[in-house]
Amino acid sequence: MSKNAETLAALIRDRAGSEPPAYGMVLGSGLGHIADSVDGVAIDYAELPGFPHAGVSGHTPKLVIGDLEGTRVAIFGGRAHYYETGRGDAMRLPLEVLKALGGERVILTNAAGSMHPDLNPGDLMLLSDHINFSGLNPLIGEPTDARFVPMTQAHDPDLRAAIKAAALAEDVPLIEGVYAWYSGPSFETPAEIRAIRTLGADAVGMSTVPEVILARFLGLRVAAISTITNKAAGLSDEQISHEHTKAMAPLGAAKLERILRRMLRGG
Ligand code: HPA
Repeated sequence: MSKNAETLAALIRDRAGSEPPAYGMVLGSGLGHIADSVDGVAIDYAELPGFPHAGVSGHTPKLVIGDLEGTRVAIFGGRAHYYETGRGDAMRLPLEVLKALGGERVILTNAAGSMHPDLNPGDLMLLSDHINFSGLNPLIGEPTDARFVPMTQAHDPDLRAAIKAAALAEDVPLIEGVYAWYSGPSFETPAEIRAIRTLGADAVGMSTVPEVILARFLGLRVAAISTITNKAAGLSDEQISHEHTKAMAPLGAAKLERILRRMLRGG
């Protein structure tokens, strides 16, 4: 754990109290709404030295920490992506801070394109596993042997079971599938999409995978949910764009919020 993370955790505890968050959450493009319902304290990333500036529209660069559905949460509203800086470990400090606050679990959300015939815009996919199609790794340069992180059950079976149970209770369809990380920021070509479909991916996006690796490195339990905003390149006539992603994310966001709230209520 870096000294900076400990310092920031102390600062956050001063502002928001010292109870450890039961869940950390990192919210994807257009999925930040749930943070507005938290009864707690919002801290701008600008007040947390070393936190990413999260320069992508559709992300709110704030840490919101407090009570949601009777459970203490820490919501990281602004996500930094590899493609913004060329640094794969852009989310390392926020995740280290979560750990330093005593957090043990983190839920990641993202917007993604779909290669799965049954996953359409507005649908949700729970990640059963992922493919690091970018070949990049946020732990490159990490000097300790802790860098050799096992990834066999990276997506935590217990957390996934809790999310599936919450989806069932809310009557929200939730297909499990494999997410491929494509670095971005350009979208994929149809040939690339055919390639990753052949390799076994069901959805594609530009985030999440480095965060799963970092979370496992830090010993956090992690699960991730994609909101499908489009069919991936070449699979439909719609124009893929960031504007389109932001416009479509709210379609799935309401269902995602119901699942997360139900999970937080514990049933
Ligand atoms: N590709 C990559 N990232 C995405 C997509 C996509 O089609 N849709 C939303 N985020």
